[in-house]
Amino acid sequence: MAVQVGDPQHETPEGRLDLETLELQLLLEGVYRQYGYDFREYAVASLRRRVWRRVHAEGVETIAGLLERLLHDPSVMERLLLDLSINVTSMFRDPTFYGAFREKVVPLLRTYPFTRIWVAGCSTGEEVYSLAIMLTEEGVYGRSRIYATDINEAVLARAREGVFPLDRMQEYTDNYIRAGGKHSFSEYYLAKYEGALFERTLTENVVWAPHNLVQDRLFNTFNVILCRNVMIYFDRPLQNRVHQLFHDSLERFGILALGHKESIRFTGFEDSYEELDAYEKLYRRIR
Ligand SMILES: C[S@@+](CC[C@H](N)C(=O)[O-])C[C@H]1O[C@@H](n2cnc3c(N)ncnc32)[C@H](O)[C@@H]1O
Repeated sequence: MAVQVGDPQHETPEGRLDLETLELQLLLEGVYRQYGYDFREYAVASLRRRVWRRVHAEGVETIAGLLERLLHDPSVMERLLLDLSINVTSMFRDPTFYGAFREKVVPLLRTYPFTRIWVAGCSTGEEVYSLAIMLTEEGVYGRSRIYATDINEAVLARAREGVFPLDRMQEYTDNYIRAGGKHSFSEYYLAKYEGALFERTLTENVVWAPHNLVQDRLFNTFNVILCRNVMIYFDRPLQNRVHQLFHDSLERFGILALGHKESIRFTGFEDSYEELDAYEKLYRRIR
């Protein structure tokens, strides 16, 4: 974890870590050693909030109490994993991003005979279905393969099913239109009970797989990497390591897409990319 002895923000007057920080470190160490998930370098403020939420939800008093529970009960770990992995997502999230991608990235993809795209931290898949819809409309989906990965297997299972809440379809339709959608959004799904079942053809070229950005290594090379709203939860050294992984995984002139609140600045890789779109955080690897 990012907090170390010597960090005055988390120290007692005697120079020890405050108890809450110590308990949080022990929890993250226990999670790592017992279950193999490494959250030790995630940004502290958001971790702390989420851990406390789980402490209360499990009916214990302290973070140490939560550690005791989860070491002996894997179902507590499953619930904590859902809290810590923060799976919030939506279709055509940030519609202007998709507009910029159509305008600035798709023409580059047209020059390739085949495109490999990695969506890292894809959560329940809404981003992947959005991308597949856009690439289909632009006529390049047939020669693309999308590798969609996440640390959390439970969200990947939902992504594979391709069923999304019906009550979000109005919001997604608005996003789709603002993203420059060319058809009627409802053509892409079948309304069934509470769910919207998306066209199977949209995932014909998608490979869903677990991958942990903190612990797993390079597994292919790509023309495009999308990693949006994931690294915002990592501390700076971890962000830099993941940027190294992306740099190693991207073909020269490949595209890197980050979330609106993320940036290549101060990562040590600024000079390796040119900006295709500064606001939309679209970068092109140049060295
Ligand atoms: C807020 S969601 C973002 C989803 C989507 N990219 C978007 O922008 O809507 C963050 C996702 O990152 C995943 N994640 C968190 N830590 C990860 C890690 N170490 N490796 C891979 N995925 C991770 C979470 O499980 C979650 O699904």
